Amino acid sequence: MKITIGSDHGAVELKDVVKKVLAELDVEVNDVGTFGNDAVDYPDIAEKVCAEVVNGNADRGIVLCGTGIGISIAANKIHGIRCALCNDVFSAKMSREHNNANVLAMGGRVLGFGPAGEIVKAWVTTDFSNDERHIRRIGKISALEK
Ligand code: RB5
Repeated sequence: MKITIGSDHGAVELKDVVKKVLAELDVEVNDVGTFGNDAVDYPDIAEKVCAEVVNGNADRGIVLCGTGIGISIAANKIHGIRCALCNDVFSAKMSREHNNANVLAMGGRVLGFGPAGEIVKAWVTTDFSNDERHIRRIGKISALEK
């Protein structure tokens, strides 16, 4: 699996932790930054990560900011993106099984590194259910984009 990851300045350390977890899961990672502590605007990071998902270079994306809120809102403005802000393992699993989330958002100022790693593991290893009712509901989400 190929995952593109990006964070603003509020989650640079968490990004490094998540990359280590992804490496353990044999995920191919493309890091689009940011790489330092200088402030950047999270919509720009969301745009870079989600472009890779939409154009097919990445199977999925992970976006991080201080809370995960701003970057998830930005990601969900992009056609074809279903971004789930997850602060717990159950939500991470459900976002895959029910919502077929193709982008995961987390907050570097919200989550400890341990819980964040467990969320990433659950999200990466959980498949979409392919259940008819969930396919129908996701289709209705897509219809809202038009
Ligand atoms: C940046 O200071 C902060 O606003 C951002 O990381 C994020 O928390 C926004 O939702």
